[in-house]
Amino acid sequence: MEDAFIVQGGKALKGEVSLSGAKNVALKVAIAALLFDTPVTFKNIPHIKDVTELLSLLESLGVKSTFNNNELMIDPTGLTNDKVDLLHGSKTRVSFMLFAPLLHRFGTALIPNPGGCRIGARPIDRHIKMLESFGVTVVYDSSTGYYHAKTNGNKLMGTNFRFEKPTHTGTELAILMATLCPGISRIENVAQEPEIDDLINFLNSSGGQIKRVGHAIEINGVDRLKYSGAPYQIMNDRSEAPTLAVFALATKGDIFIKGATEKDLHFFIEAVRNIGGGVEIGETGIRFYYDKPLVATDITTRPHPGFMTDWQAPWAVLMTQAKGESTIHETVFEDRFGYVAELKKLGARIEYFTPEQSNIDYQFSMDDTINNKAHHQAIRISGPTLLHNGVLEVKDLRAGATVLIAALVAQGESVVNGVSIIDRGYETIDKKLGLLGAELKRV
Ligand code: EPU
Repeated sequence: MEDAFIVQGGKALKGEVSLSGAKNVALKVAIAALLFDTPVTFKNIPHIKDVTELLSLLESLGVKSTFNNNELMIDPTGLTNDKVDLLHGSKTRVSFMLFAPLLHRFGTALIPNPGGCRIGARPIDRHIKMLESFGVTVVYDSSTGYYHAKTNGNKLMGTNFRFEKPTHTGTELAILMATLCPGISRIENVAQEPEIDDLINFLNSSGGQIKRVGHAIEINGVDRLKYSGAPYQIMNDRSEAPTLAVFALATKGDIFIKGATEKDLHFFIEAVRNIGGGVEIGETGIRFYYDKPLVATDITTRPHPGFMTDWQAPWAVLMTQAKGESTIHETVFEDRFGYVAELKKLGARIEYFTPEQSNIDYQFSMDDTINNKAHHQAIRISGPTLLHNGVLEVKDLRAGATVLIAALVAQGESVVNGVSIIDRGYETIDKKLGLLGAELKRV
């Protein structure tokens, strides 16, 4: 299997590139389609491995789909199975979101512990508490690794629930559960990410009755969802744009990103301006370009609308090229610095430190930092550093894009191993980079 890139670094990337559809919407609307009783079609769905893995999982449940030219049709009428098999479940992190359509259809759901990117413990305890509030019984069988979920007497009822701490996919699962539940559900302390609003828009375009009320979401349950007949076009990927922007800035290049919008990238754009990077906001996209020597800055990741956790790994490479000492404080996931050891192989000067702020509202549960993880919450990067070539391993999706950027910045030939992990979330990244002048070959 071709699972590596050979990269010739040291060249400025220039040109125009279009954003793909959002991975974290594509996966959710495909699952939401199982709440319908007719086929549903979506546009702008990225051809990425996470989507094709999910489609193969859905097929194992009896759901048919066709996927051509970024248009995806899901036909849920053949859904006959309430059990996600271990193999498919282990490859698809969002498989636990199937609780909603399976419970609605069968009153039972058997789903293995989620797989996906290893960026911390990533428990789903908040999701489970939320499901229980709908009257669902969930039992975890540690001998098989399966969650067994069952509705009370085959009836789901609307709920009033407050998440102890916000969760992005937990909020989306609550929406999918409540949409077809009789009565009004009110879910409080929900996540604010725009991907959630895209899911809400899709459901509302099909007769759903869902609205945000401050930090809560109110859902008036409906009997059935009715597809409008017009393919639903999902939003562009908010995490791809900063990755591409860093490709431009770190290689001293100039890239126009078609489809990027200011409103989705506000804090990223502000950070780029702070370090002296060039930004030009146009009607159809945003240009990021190297203008003058970059300077160091401090970043703290936050849930939306803050500086997004998915952006910090690519940002770290950029900071190796900035003058001075930069810091990155990760507050959303407790273990998302898997790329640091890789960047150090190329000569990057990065060290861990424990931040002083004690009033930070970490999104992970602090119990997860036991076992010596707490000191992994922040890194200090010294720059600028002339990176040299090396052999790099991809640890998770965003870390994968990060080492690829580093390889393109570094002088000489590098090897990036494990690129199928990058293919999970970035559509034809090698082709896009090739069009921008990058020299890389899949081997
Ligand atoms: N958490 C718990 N218990 C729970 C749920 C969450 O402890 O029951 C913790 C998590 O471990 C994490 C924090 O709470 O430390 C926040 O997690 P959240 O549930 O909000 O994140 P997620 O739903 O697992 C989604 C995206 C991520 C993105 C985050 C933040 C999907 C499939 N994943 O993750 O995307 O970083 O929200 O916006 O939508 C990526 O695309 O690379 C990616 C990781």
